[in-house]
Amino acid sequence: MEINKVTKEQSDFSVKINYGLEGAYFTESKICKVDGVNGKLYYRGYSIEELASHSNFEEVSFLLLNGKLPRKDELEEFSANLKKERELPKEIVHIIKNITKKEDPMHILRTAVSALSAYDPEADVNTKEANMRKSIRLISKMASITAAIGRFKTEKEYIAPDNSLGHSANFLYMLHGNKPSEKEIKIFDRMLLLHAEHSSNASTFSVLVTGSTLSDIYSAITSGIGTLKGPLHGEADENALRMLYEIKSPDNAERYINDALSGKQRIMGFGHRVYKTYDPRARVIRETLEEIKSSSPEVKNLVDISFKIETMMIEKLGRSHGIWPNVDFFSGPVYTYLGVPIELFTPVFAVSRVSGWCSHLLEYWENNRLIRPLDYYTGELDLKYPK
Ligand SMILES: CC(C)(COP(=O)(O)OP(=O)(O)OC[C@H]1O[C@@H](n2cnc3c(N)ncnc32)[C@H](O)[C@@H]1OP(=O)(O)O)[C@@H](O)C(=O)NCCC(=O)NCCS
Repeated sequence: MEINKVTKEQSDFSVKINYGLEGAYFTESKICKVDGVNGKLYYRGYSIEELASHSNFEEVSFLLLNGKLPRKDELEEFSANLKKERELPKEIVHIIKNITKKEDPMHILRTAVSALSAYDPEADVNTKEANMRKSIRLISKMASITAAIGRFKTEKEYIAPDNSLGHSANFLYMLHGNKPSEKEIKIFDRMLLLHAEHSSNASTFSVLVTGSTLSDIYSAITSGIGTLKGPLHGEADENALRMLYEIKSPDNAERYINDALSGKQRIMGFGHRVYKTYDPRARVIRETLEEIKSSSPEVKNLVDISFKIETMMIEKLGRSHGIWPNVDFFSGPVYTYLGVPIELFTPVFAVSRVSGWCSHLLEYWENNRLIRPLDYYTGELDLKYPK
């Protein structure tokens, strides 16, 4: 497919610059379809609503990595492999503990994932089979790392994984130290499923840029974590919840939003580069808010403020400007219900998105091409060196 391809024959005047690569295609993929016009999202052909109703994060990770839903025995093997990889090398636990006081969770996650390569004898083995094993290792270990960060941040001890539990239940157990309820497991698992993949967004693209040099999977995923950290990407869910706390009560929402918009501020959790309509993931999470809103006065208040802002923003910027709630807007109240602290929201996003990152990398490596776009030079030439 040749879209916006600049050829030698084109004169400088016909060079089209896609700032931020907006609208530019760089590869083909069979993993994910984001239909920004109709507000639809598909993983490997299955709509997100279909998967959120019938599947779970482990099965979806298999689907993303392998291109098909697993048979029962395949899923059992995949889940068993995830369990085998949960425990962290003690040196990694030490690294996390030692830097916890100085660093923010995303810095710790990025550092710990980068360090994992030192404890993986296959770190530089770039076969398809080894990369699939390393993907499972990363999906599993990133959950353990994030739970450990949560423990150390609150000055609690690291909790070893419980292999009687599934991936999502074990994460909540390693974070809280007690076994979660079925409802909590289901809601957390759905959050992981909804965040697992989203085509070539900024973090996935940076995973592929690193991978396209034929660097290793740990380097690529480390790049992805660094990219996800930004407030215009993964960190928006933290900032959206901080905004709800700042607003304090539904009665203050109208004034807050009016002031913010007249001051040209962006409302976190709204707008999207691709969706110019309601983000389908936000719709599913919104339904979850209805399930949890009576769980505590704090959650109810957050939900009520969210609904008020949602109505206002749709009236003001939705239909007219295509700025609608995105996946990050409603996540805060859900994680509050689950007892996930605000500074872990973005690491939890990475715990989920690593499935998509690895799937894209494995697919891209099937037909690798170094990613090397052009910038259009507008500086000076032939300057004389000052003597
Ligand atoms: C996600 C985002 C970066 C996509 O932006 P984009 O496609 O680059 O769109 P632009 O930055 O060009 O914005 C277009 C216009 O909409 C406005 N806009 C975009 N998002 C907005 C928001 N959340 N609140 C208020 N106005 C917003 C911009 O100010 C701009 O207005 P202008 O044309 O008057 O200058 C942007 O919507 C944003 O910053 N959202 C908040 C952060 C967020 O929730 N990120 C998570 C994404 S999943």
